[in-house]
Amino acid sequence: MTIIASKCPDYKVTVVDISEERINAWNSDKLPIFEPGLLERVLKARGKNLFFSTEIDRCIDEADIIFVSVNTPTKMFGEGAGKAVDLQFIEQTARRIKENAKSNKIVVEKSTIPVRAAETLAKILHSGNNSVQFEILSNPEFMAEGTGVRDMEAPDRILIGSMDTPSGLAARNILMDVYLHWVPKERLITTNLWSSELSKLVSNAFLAQRISSINTIASICEVTGADVTEVSRAVGMDSRIGSKFLNAGPGFGGSCFRKDILNLVYLCEYYQLNEIAAFWEQVVSLNDYQMERFVKRILQAMFNTLVGKKLAIFGFAFKPDTGDTRDAPAIYICKRLLEEKAFLNITDPHALNNARKDLQDIEEGVDFIEDPYQAVEGAHGIALITEWASYKKLDYQKIFDKMEKPAFIFDGRNHLDHKALYEIGFNVYPIGKPALKHL
Ligand code: UDX
Repeated sequence: MTIIASKCPDYKVTVVDISEERINAWNSDKLPIFEPGLLERVLKARGKNLFFSTEIDRCIDEADIIFVSVNTPTKMFGEGAGKAVDLQFIEQTARRIKENAKSNKIVVEKSTIPVRAAETLAKILHSGNNSVQFEILSNPEFMAEGTGVRDMEAPDRILIGSMDTPSGLAARNILMDVYLHWVPKERLITTNLWSSELSKLVSNAFLAQRISSINTIASICEVTGADVTEVSRAVGMDSRIGSKFLNAGPGFGGSCFRKDILNLVYLCEYYQLNEIAAFWEQVVSLNDYQMERFVKRILQAMFNTLVGKKLAIFGFAFKPDTGDTRDAPAIYICKRLLEEKAFLNITDPHALNNARKDLQDIEEGVDFIEDPYQAVEGAHGIALITEWASYKKLDYQKIFDKMEKPAFIFDGRNHLDHKALYEIGFNVYPIGKPALKHL
């Protein structure tokens, strides 16, 4: 919405939320999320044509277009528990829009929701005897965290799904006009509602599938002596395959991939497409396997016991340039290392507050330390889980000198200079390539 406001000075954009605390943060200089480039843009537009408010009912009434961007977590109870999407926030929002709308509205689904959920939205909005007309559009969000501003200012594509009726197409054109302020026409694509909803799930499923695929190859490389970075480069240079999203790692995280694939799996099961459900579910199972494999590699390398050993964890966010830790591989990996009775010093430039919340049930064995040099004090090993650029610039001789010997480093992202680390004296365990060890 900040980018829309900054690119469309002739529109007034108001962001509303039920959380007063969050809206206050959006109205301050300390935004509730860390996203490079966002604060400058908020400061430029706020108070001019961008507003943050808790006056939901008034803003519904005043708006012509309403973007529904509420959370759609995986349902954790009843029918479809663990796979289906919990639609309660979507439904509550639809009811609130219906109660407060006194003029016709275009309602845009921005949240990722199950295929054909627009139908539910339409049914609620059109129920009872309200003379107000609602037109539902699907406009899924493809931006990724950490690169949100860039992805929104120069998107690969903007997808708008609508009903194929005169009023549906008219609403679609109104939304297209918003994006045409800065997105070239050929990047706007239009589909029917269900294709648009499904495309969002499929995009995330395909991206996650590439990661799980390369992670399976990493395992093969570790036992055969091949190098996953070299394989990935050779494979990715085939223009039919492409080079992006072929980096092996400790497993994918984030708020979308697991949730959206499980949503796709649930959809397949609902239509009794069981083989197809099993195919996609495997992408998630392999991700679980990859996180566990990372833990096992640490355990095996460190003489099959971590009892009483100290490990420095470099990075807790699910990826760099964000403080977000939702579904981060670090959560699983740290919990498993703690089960093995290791002591953990967790460091991260932006995610320590979230890390503390994620591990709040853990009573002992974990410290959260801002400074990486302090985190490695007396450590037996380092596990790098998030590839923050700053980790490349550290003085690893200084780090080595502070550690117990033999010193281990497990580079879960193949982010560091392994040869240089080995020469300093580290035993280096990359992902998907042979270890460099002095032992
Ligand atoms: C994703 C989609 O990319 C985006 O289009 C959608 O709108 C939301 O979901 P996001 O979750 O922000 O975005 O992060 P993304 O960059 O896709 O990374 C997801 C995870 O995959 C991270 O944990 C990342 O470290 C991991 N990853 C990514 C790899 O392990 N290897 C890769 O090659 C790429």
